[in-house]
Amino acid sequence: MTQVADPIAVFDSGMGGISVLKEMVGLMPNEDFIYYGDSKHAPYGTKTLEEVRKLTIEHISDLIEHNHAKAIAVACNTATSAAVRILREMYPAVPLVGVEPAIKPAVMACENPKILVMATPMTLHEDKFHQLEALYINQADIYPVPCPGLMEFVEQGILDGDQLDNFLKGKIEPYLDKGITGIVLGCTHYPFVRKRIEAIAGPSIEVFDGSLGTARELLRRLTVAGLNRKDDHKGQVTFLNSSEDLSKIQLARNLFEREI
Ligand code: DGL
Repeated sequence: MTQVADPIAVFDSGMGGISVLKEMVGLMPNEDFIYYGDSKHAPYGTKTLEEVRKLTIEHISDLIEHNHAKAIAVACNTATSAAVRILREMYPAVPLVGVEPAIKPAVMACENPKILVMATPMTLHEDKFHQLEALYINQADIYPVPCPGLMEFVEQGILDGDQLDNFLKGKIEPYLDKGITGIVLGCTHYPFVRKRIEAIAGPSIEVFDGSLGTARELLRRLTVAGLNRKDDHKGQVTFLNSSEDLSKIQLARNLFEREI
């Protein structure tokens, strides 16, 4: 039987979902959270749809059935496109949110939007993205930019330096003469390198990510289900990771404590 005091589980292929977790803890400081990173199997973004679907369903089922999670945030764009629809069918009573690239606010932010969407190859390849893109295609120029290799910097705790800057320049600079107005961070790992992306893109380009919107949506769903805590409990975050490398837990804590 689900209890209001049960934890909320936040899931990602590795460290990226910590960017979403931070917004959730800010919004719901009295809730307990379990953060599960599947670093052993990361990256997800270059795997097949079937592989990502299987891994995501396995881990989320475990979080609900063994860790007694009362609600789930799939804090990974790639896993969201592969598995959220199926998970909602499997667990209709569990409040569950996914993430998707924040194209809407980027389109609404200006008159002639020209937007880069940085994300994993799988996110940009899936129907979910094509349907989202189709909603705005008449109002904006949208340039999908697959970034295989970028999440690995964050997984290794590399958040600045020449190697990272050269990688980002290779992705962003070819578009700068198109009058880009916004960059959407369509992978939850990327907010950790947001400052470098902003520095390379320059001050006239606004950078968007959907973490706060996802946190608000989870709170809304919890409230509708009557599962949000109303006491003044001091919420705890427990970090779990599938990797045998114990330094992943320390990296997760460091990223959680770091200002984005
Ligand atoms: N953090 C993930 C996302 O939002 C994916 C990174 C990966 O595993 O490739 O898409």
